Amino acid sequence: MFVRRIAVIGTGYVGLTTGACLASLGHEVVCADVDIQKIARLRHGDVPILEPGLTELVTEGLAAGRLKFVVGARNAIAPTELSDEPVEVVFLCVPTPMGTGGAADLTAVETVAREIRDLLPSGCVVVNKSTVPVGTAARTKQLLGRRDIAVVSNPEFLREGSAVHDFLNPDRIVVGCDQQDAAERVAALYSRLGAPTLLTDAASSEMVKYAANCFLAMKLSYVNAMAELCERLGANVHEVTEGMGYDRRIGQAFLKPGPGWGGSCLPKDTHALMQICDAAGLEFPLLKASLETNERQSGRMVDKIRTAVGGSLRGKRVGLLGLTFKAGTDDLRDSPALTVAEGLRAEGAELTAFDPGCPAAVPGLTDGIVVTDDPMAVAKDADAITVLTEWPEFRALDWPAMTKLAANPTVVDTRNLLDPAVLRRAGFSWVGVGRR
Ligand code: UDX
Repeated sequence: MFVRRIAVIGTGYVGLTTGACLASLGHEVVCADVDIQKIARLRHGDVPILEPGLTELVTEGLAAGRLKFVVGARNAIAPTELSDEPVEVVFLCVPTPMGTGGAADLTAVETVAREIRDLLPSGCVVVNKSTVPVGTAARTKQLLGRRDIAVVSNPEFLREGSAVHDFLNPDRIVVGCDQQDAAERVAALYSRLGAPTLLTDAASSEMVKYAANCFLAMKLSYVNAMAELCERLGANVHEVTEGMGYDRRIGQAFLKPGPGWGGSCLPKDTHALMQICDAAGLEFPLLKASLETNERQSGRMVDKIRTAVGGSLRGKRVGLLGLTFKAGTDDLRDSPALTVAEGLRAEGAELTAFDPGCPAAVPGLTDGIVVTDDPMAVAKDADAITVLTEWPEFRALDWPAMTKLAANPTVVDTRNLLDPAVLRRAGFSWVGVGRR
């Protein structure tokens, strides 16, 4: 394997995972960020995000001298004391948040491209890893204004909470470029992983990411709608999805109903694809319906909780188990748990929350919620307790003790996480999703 000198711009969960994992594969990696404090922490192996295995890889990379952290994109491109060899591959891993009207905001990608264009050594390859609309590779190439630099699309498929595992054990690697040799050079960086690799054109590669994420979002909206139908007809969605999932064309994954899908990718990418469709003059009713079904889902959960407390939420105490958008992360961005909490608060409920990934209040996100690091405090005088995130540790809570603390021992389990039999034995009534 060739050792490449790589620069990674942006040390969010995608950039840091990419940098640390590429270093673990033997490459020499310099990671850059504009956040001076973050870089100072990373230089000491102090990883600011919760991502299993990442601290270990960063520590290893630093110790082996294969991983370095610098402030600013320019410093990652210029020769450093790590190596005076010219940089060969530059990964852009900067945020592409939802901008006005739902389209992806490419300001960060464009700023970095302008910043580095005159520094890039001839023949170097720039790789877009962030999720960007079709045409961004071509636009980046234009911004760089360099005939001697190829721009490649290589989307990430990392789930938060298992990003390191996903990077090192990918289902596939997609590399798109209108110059075959550049695509092959990027694909070669991952050769040790032995994953199926699709080499394609830049536009198709950019589209794969949206097509995959929006398909997953659609799958979840389908399941959430199916859960509602199961409730009406007395079927059990758990059994229904298990029966569906044995069909290899469908698969068991991504079939769990919940309070709606969220996080930093699925909502943003679905809105962005809607914008892409609008701009292309195409109606995509399936996509629109997936979003609408998801928007309705949090309201359905509020309905269940309102019913559980007797018909009105005004002045009722609701204990929340979970705030993050899924288990195994500390990320609250676009969390369906927060959307449900907002709905409860709007109707006058008083909220106390416990989340293993969020031990204290986060201004601007958990305002109006008492955030505690003691799960028992969630049960104290509660008119209802609701599970909003699927943290497995909630199963092991002392439910019999919680019954004694609660004013009304009722659990609304929006993730179907808990065992209803265990809850009933503890003295709770249990309401799930898609089950009687
Ligand atoms: C997603 C994609 O999976 C990943 O490939 C992409 O690169 C980034 O976006 P992530 O946002 O980390 O990853 O979360 P994911 O595990 O996909 O979950 C998304 C949402 O769907 C969460 O709110 C989760 O709770 C929900 N979900 C997931 C369900 O409600 N039911 C399921 O069965 C699976």
